[in-house]
Amino acid sequence: MTETTKAETMIWQGGVAGCLDLIDQTKLPTELFRIECKDVETVWEAIKMLRVRGAPAIGIAAAYGVVLGLQSAEKGKEAFFARLDEVVDYLATSRPTAVNLFWALDRMRRVADRQRADFNGVEQLCESLLAEAKSIHEEDRRMCHSIGGHGADLLNGVEGVLTHCNAGGLATAEYGTALSVFFTAQDRGQSLHVYVDETRPLLQGARLTAWELMQRGIKATLICDSMAAQVMREGRVQAIVTGADRIAANGDSANKIGTYSLAVLARAHGIPFYIAAPSSTFDLVIESGDQIPIEERCSKEITHGFGRQTAPDGVEVYNPAFDVTPAEYIQAIITEAGVIAPVNREAIERVLGVV
Ligand code: MRU
Repeated sequence: MTETTKAETMIWQGGVAGCLDLIDQTKLPTELFRIECKDVETVWEAIKMLRVRGAPAIGIAAAYGVVLGLQSAEKGKEAFFARLDEVVDYLATSRPTAVNLFWALDRMRRVADRQRADFNGVEQLCESLLAEAKSIHEEDRRMCHSIGGHGADLLNGVEGVLTHCNAGGLATAEYGTALSVFFTAQDRGQSLHVYVDETRPLLQGARLTAWELMQRGIKATLICDSMAAQVMREGRVQAIVTGADRIAANGDSANKIGTYSLAVLARAHGIPFYIAAPSSTFDLVIESGDQIPIEERCSKEITHGFGRQTAPDGVEVYNPAFDVTPAEYIQAIITEAGVIAPVNREAIERVLGVV
């Protein structure tokens, strides 16, 4: 591990024999450390432990993880493809909710499958896989900037906004999804005041979003999650924007636990609730949010948050990491292809150009 001043979420170092260099997000905001992932196990652990997190960033890391997992593969065709299956299946077990992980792994597998019939050797295939991982990375960068443009148009006249968890540069290739909307508004000269939910239990809002906003000189006020209703009632925010981890065909959207209650509160206060997400976060194979797998995490995240015991020994704990906001509570979904409103299957298919 090395201390650094570089804030790029992920960087691939070198050619096919290279490694993945990423910010260890568990150390922020007090330390900006980078780790070098030289094997697929280190990438898996980094995803599992949220060293790299946020739906798009998980997908990008997993794509590079495939390249790392194949560095030690045998040269023969059958052995290589067997190892590819093993590596993809292994990375798919790291986290269950963000569909970007499976989307990126599918893209990697398809690149390999296309070369299966006229196989020209492991070297060429590994080059193609690294190129695909880099494309996934680069496309995400472009999608985030487009989301920002479409989303900032919706914030005309808005002064106060609220966000939950971290959907910023750290959660993506750069710039973010929800935060990209705020960054773009700022680039256009708009002054925003962002209320940041701390986001229990792992504090992605306090540790990561507040840090990112402050780095860019955007006014940020940290609140406990339970203060959101009061902030809305006091008229401090005119819009809520969050990211998403998986969006079903009908628009139901999974995001960090606590997002659903924000959307319900927003409806009660007549405040628009927006989701900002790239097309890679849509899972159009599933009809509704009921089919989205919700990750359950370790009870110690609640009973021993950041190393200090705050609950009695042996207490029963339920720790779902995500919840699903029904489409009816979402005013619009902001994507790189445009704004989806109203949120329903027809509008999703039209904006995303699904035929
Ligand atoms: O558990 P995390 O930190 O990976 O959860 C992340 C979120 O819920 C983000 O809001 C979501 O992935 C969108 S990131 C652009």
